Amino acid sequence: MSGFRGAATAWPSIEETGTASAATRGASTKSLEIGFDEAVARIMAAASFGDLLYGATDSGSGRNRAGYAYKRWAKLVHPDAVSAGRRATATDAFAKLSALYKQKPAVPVLHGRRRAYRMDAVLAHGDLAELYADGQAVIKIPRHPGDSDLMEVEAATLQRLWRDGDPRFRPYAARLIESFVYEDERRCRRRVNVLERQDGMVSLAHVKEATPQEVLWIWRRLLTGLGWAHRAGVTHGALLEEHVLIHREMRGLVIIDWCYAGHRPRAIVKARQSAYPPEVLNDRLAGPATDIYMATGLITRLMGSRMPEPLRRFAAGCTYDAPRMRPQDAWALLGELDDIIPQRYRN
Ligand SMILES: Nc1ncnc2c1ncn2[C@@H]1O[C@H](COP(=O)(O)OP(=O)(O)OP(=O)(O)O)[C@@H](O)[C@H]1O
Ligand SMILES: [Mg+2]
Repeated sequence: MSGFRGAATAWPSIEETGTASAATRGASTKSLEIGFDEAVARIMAAASFGDLLYGATDSGSGRNRAGYAYKRWAKLVHPDAVSAGRRATATDAFAKLSALYKQKPAVPVLHGRRRAYRMDAVLAHGDLAELYADGQAVIKIPRHPGDSDLMEVEAATLQRLWRDGDPRFRPYAARLIESFVYEDERRCRRRVNVLERQDGMVSLAHVKEATPQEVLWIWRRLLTGLGWAHRAGVTHGALLEEHVLIHREMRGLVIIDWCYAGHRPRAIVKARQSAYPPEVLNDRLAGPATDIYMATGLITRLMGSRMPEPLRRFAAGCTYDAPRMRPQDAWALLGELDDIIPQRYRN
């Protein structure tokens, strides 16, 4: 499965991202220009080979990055490359360097700016990305470097939600821990997003049976989360089952995968084309009414034939082909929904 990349020339080119990403990588190369004494001091102070990766090299990642870093450090302290007076110090440092390198973990590790992430536990195979879990972190890596622009959209969108959105509603989106560029052994650059893992939550794609009562609280929270995003000027653009996580006991809901956000979405989830409204498919435009259409479709699929007639009419009013015919305000819509459901379901 792959997100559909627009063929129309109006859609931004992927190459732009490479340049933008490259700009974020400049700082650490300076640290390569260190001399013998500093190299020795750093090696002798290192507790593990990982300590020598930060700032030691600007290239590669995981195992390859370690090999690359090893060569750089070895060149600096190799006993054959120094004067006789430094040879004993160099020999010690070189021995320590080799010992640290041999101990390097077998598990591939991705070095972010905040910390290193272990890449041994696959969490999910997304549409465009592979997702790994390390403790409370979800590491999201696009399979194709060309999809890095979508990861940038997600990172920028989450930052905007945090900056401009009402902080009380932040639990409706997964927090962005960090976003960085990683270069693989073939020097392909990818934008990686690290998100807070949502414990005990399940995506609606995996919810087989939901009672009408459950669907109602899901609908209400979906509209709450959407209203929050819309007021911060953010449109999600891909409200599909796999992008809504719920916690059944706690009645929690989190909207994930903000890669398709914006008024001119760069891509759609191709496998789910039939869930999109006409303005996205025909004009590549999205707005709050797009999210309302897709959220309603999702709820209708979840409730299926059990949907009572008043709710069916309500849903029909949210899924007109023309976006301007649909409700535009998710929070106002939540009020209208509450008016037609029994009091005991309004929670
Ligand atoms: N923060 C999270 N906590 C728990 N599970 C998550 C989290 N983020 C994603 N997942 C799981 O991983 C799956 C895929 O995630 P997501 O949709 O973000 O990736 P993707 O489809 O590859 O992204 P994109 O299409 O934007 O490249 C989700 O359906 C969900 O099951
Ligand atoms: Mg997805």
